[in-house]
Amino acid sequence: MLEQVPDDVVGALKKAKHVVALTGAGVSAESGVPTFRDAMKGLWAKYNPMKLATPEAFERDPEMVSRWYDQRRQDCALVKPNPGHYALARMENSLLERGGAFSLLTQNVDRLHQQAGSRNVVELHGSILEWRCMKCGMKREERGGAFKEYPPRCECGGMRRPDVVWFGEQLLEEAIAAAERALVRCDLFFSIGTSAVVQPSASFIHVARGHGAKTVEINSESTPISGIVDWSIVGKSGEILPELVEKAFKANPKSQQESEQYSR
Ligand code: OAD
Repeated sequence: MLEQVPDDVVGALKKAKHVVALTGAGVSAESGVPTFRDAMKGLWAKYNPMKLATPEAFERDPEMVSRWYDQRRQDCALVKPNPGHYALARMENSLLERGGAFSLLTQNVDRLHQQAGSRNVVELHGSILEWRCMKCGMKREERGGAFKEYPPRCECGGMRRPDVVWFGEQLLEEAIAAAERALVRCDLFFSIGTSAVVQPSASFIHVARGHGAKTVEINSESTPISGIVDWSIVGKSGEILPELVEKAFKANPKSQQESEQYSR
C-alpha cells in the first residue's frame, strides 16, 4: 500500500479531542455514486443543475425532476459504503472511547455514512432517500423500487419531492446550528472529497481555523482551500482514511471490531 498519510497528520489525530469531518461526493465516489463536478463524469457535466436542482425546475416540470431524482434514489439504495466510510465510523468510535468527540458534517444525500456506522451525522443537504409532501409535510424514507407515478403523491393528495436542499434554498436551521456548534469546538478539521465551492460548507474551514483548529484536506485534486489547510493530502479517501485511522488508532482493537461489525 502506498504510504500517503504524513506522520504529523497521524500525530494530530492521535492528540485530537474533538474532530469535525466535512464530506462531499468524493467520499461516495468509490461506492459508485457519481460526483457533481468531476470533469466529464460528474453529474453537473451531463445535466444542467439549474434545470434539475432548483424549486423553479420542480415547479416547471415536476415529473421530469422527480423522475431524475428517483433514479438517483434507486441507485443510492443499491450501493454500499466503501472503506472510507467505514474508516470515518471507526474514527468516531475510537475518539468516543477515549472521551473525545466527533461530528460528521456531510453534503452527501446517500446515507452511506450512516450505513457504515457513523452516528453523529449532520445531513447538510438532506437525503435523497427521504421524500416529503409539499402539502402536509409528511416525510418518509423510501428504499424500494421506482415510484408508480411522477411526481409521487402523498396519501393527502399532495405532490412529494426529494427532501434535499436545492440551489436557492436555505439549509435547515438545525443543521447549520449543529455544524456551528461543532466547528467552534473542534481542534482538528477534515475536508474530505469535496470541491469546496458550495456555501456554506466551503466556509467551514475558516470557522474551524478561526477557533484554533488544525485543518486537513483529503481530495483527489486540489481545490480553493488546498493552499489554506495545514495539510493537503491528494488521493482517494477510500485509501487514505483507512491508512490514517489504522495508524492513529491501531492500538485500539475494540474500535476495529466495532466498525468491522458494520462491514459484515
Ligand atoms: P463535487 O463533485 O463538487 O466535488 C467532489 C470532489 O471529490 C472533487 O474535488 C473530486 O476531485 C473529489 N473526488 C472524487 N473522487 C474522489 C475520491 N475517490 N477520493 C477523494 N476525493 C475524490 O461534490 P461536492 O463538493 O460534494 O449540492 O459538491 C457539493 C454540493 O454541490 C453537493 O452537495 C451538491 C452539488 O451541487 C446540491 O445538490 C445542493
